[in-house]
Amino acid sequence: MSMRIAYYEYGGPEVLQIEDETVPEPGVDELIVRNEVIGVNPIDWKMIAGVFRHQEPHPSPGVPGWASVGTVEQVGAAVQHFQPGQKVIIGSRAGSYRERQVVNSRYVVALPPGLAIDQAAGLPSSAVAGYSIIHQLGIAADDVLLIHGAAGSVGSAAAQIAIAEGATVIGSASTKNHEFLRSLGVTPVEYGPNLLADVRNIADPTAVADAVGGQGPAEATSALLGSHPRSVTAWGTRYSQAAGIPGLRHPDDELERVVKYALDGALTVRIADDYVFEDVKRALEASMTMHASGKILLRL
Ligand SMILES: NC(=O)c1ccc[n+]([C@@H]2O[C@H](COP(=O)([O-])OP(=O)(O)OC[C@H]3O[C@@H](n4cnc5c(N)ncnc54)[C@H](OP(=O)(O)O)[C@@H]3O)[C@@H](O)[C@H]2O)c1
Repeated sequence: MSMRIAYYEYGGPEVLQIEDETVPEPGVDELIVRNEVIGVNPIDWKMIAGVFRHQEPHPSPGVPGWASVGTVEQVGAAVQHFQPGQKVIIGSRAGSYRERQVVNSRYVVALPPGLAIDQAAGLPSSAVAGYSIIHQLGIAADDVLLIHGAAGSVGSAAAQIAIAEGATVIGSASTKNHEFLRSLGVTPVEYGPNLLADVRNIADPTAVADAVGGQGPAEATSALLGSHPRSVTAWGTRYSQAAGIPGLRHPDDELERVVKYALDGALTVRIADDYVFEDVKRALEASMTMHASGKILLRL
């Protein structure tokens, strides 16, 4: 038997329960991984709240989680590049809030020596989205990139990768995060009524990335770029749709790419806090504020 965190109805963290499950044998392309550290991401509480309920009206049950690091326990007959005992990073919506996870090998990357487990657990979902933002916008050394929510897990990854590519980055954040942004090489601005004037005082952006979602970032992006195609949002809403801001596309190799930036020292995940597995509700509540000071981890 193995523990999992499950929900049988949509709602807040209160609908979650910790329960035992029987772990099936892996399919030919699958691995069983014993998770050690799980990365908490906004998509987890959004799924628990039912953001995909049009696809699945009743969770049967749902198990949240898109990010984890653990040790391979078993491999399917056709799995070639992984073996029991190996540490791996998983970036899959297969439900990582569990002690043992059955996952297709295409969503698994070996944990390289030299990359700390906690850093690695912060890469799937958020840092990969940061990488995909930079890839989609084609950011290069002559760009001035504005990132809405630059101190968040997605935004700070996008900022570090853009800077590694030689770009100039302006990032919006609340004042408490301005020193952190400066430490990354980002010029900070406060989001809110003065955002547009403050950004234009620094430079005219050539591209804008929304690493938050919602009305404010969409309207500011639209005001700065008009119908300019070099914008993207990590969380599409009716506001970004109305403004014609494209959603994020994910290249197949995003996890490998982001692992390389982390190994090269170009990308560091800021860790806000960690919680034991049983304390999952508090971990999610911290993420739901959308103002956590970095990545939240769950530890088994
Ligand atoms: N498409 C994808 O693949 C993908 C993957 C991961 C995440 N996402 C989405 O990306 C968004 C960010 O995720 P995350 O993991 O980075 O979350 P996070 O670590 O909680 O960061 C959220 C950031 O948003 C900032 N923020 C909050 N309200 C804001 C506002 N009104 N204007 C500007 N900034 C604001 C916060 O800045 P301060 O604390 O400085 O106020 C915080 O740094 C979420 O909507 C998430 O669902 C998408």
